[in-house]
Amino acid sequence: METFQTIINRRSIRKYKSSKIEEEKINLLLKAAMYAPSAMNLQPWHFIVINSEEVIQETIKSVPHAEMIKQSGNAILVCGDASLEKNESWLIQNCSAATQNILLAAYDLGLGTCWIAVHGMSDVMKNLKAQFKLPEEIIPVALIAIGYPDEEVKTEERFKEEKIHYNNW
Ligand SMILES: Cc1cc2nc3c(=O)[nH]c(=O)nc-3n(C[C@H](O)[C@H](O)[C@H](O)COP(=O)(O)O)c2cc1C
Repeated sequence: METFQTIINRRSIRKYKSSKIEEEKINLLLKAAMYAPSAMNLQPWHFIVINSEEVIQETIKSVPHAEMIKQSGNAILVCGDASLEKNESWLIQNCSAATQNILLAAYDLGLGTCWIAVHGMSDVMKNLKAQFKLPEEIIPVALIAIGYPDEEVKTEERFKEEKIHYNNW
C-alpha cells in the first residue's frame, strides 16, 4: 500500500528550497534507478550526478528549459549505452524505467523531482553530449531536477474508465 501511495502522491516539483541533498540519499536514488527492469537485464544506463554550481550553470545553457535546477541545486542526467542495447526504443524504455524509479524513490525520501525532457530534442541532446564529453555510444535521455520541495502540488482525479479496454479495443 505504501508503494501505491507513493505512486499516487508523487508530483512534479518546480520550486525548491536551496538545501543540499545528503550523499546517502543520492546513492539511494541511484540504487533505485539500477533496480529498474531492463530488456534482457542489460542495465544499459549511466547516471551523471550534477551538484556543482558551475556545472548547473553550464547545464542550463545546454537545456534552456531546465532553469529549475538552479534552485534545486541537484540533478541527475540519465544516459543510455547504445553499445549495450542496440534497439533504441528499448534503450529509451529502459532508461525511462530507471528515471521513474528515481522519481518514486525521491518522493519516499522527502525529495521533490521533475523529469526534464532531453531525448527527442536534438539540439539539447547535442549540447549535452558536447558539455559532458559523452562517448559516441552514450545517449542522454532524461534530466531530473532533485531537491527539497518548496511547493505542494495537487492534481485532478486521473482514473478514467474510458481509457481502459478489456480483451479488445
Ligand atoms: C518525457 C517527459 C518529459 C518531461 N519534460 C518536462 C520538462 O521539460 N519540463 C517540465 O517542467 N516538466 C516536464 N515533464 C513533467 C510533466 O510535465 C509532468 O509529469 C506532467 O505534467 C504530470 O504531472 P506530475 O508529474 O505532477 O504527475 C516531463 C515528463 C515526461 C514524462
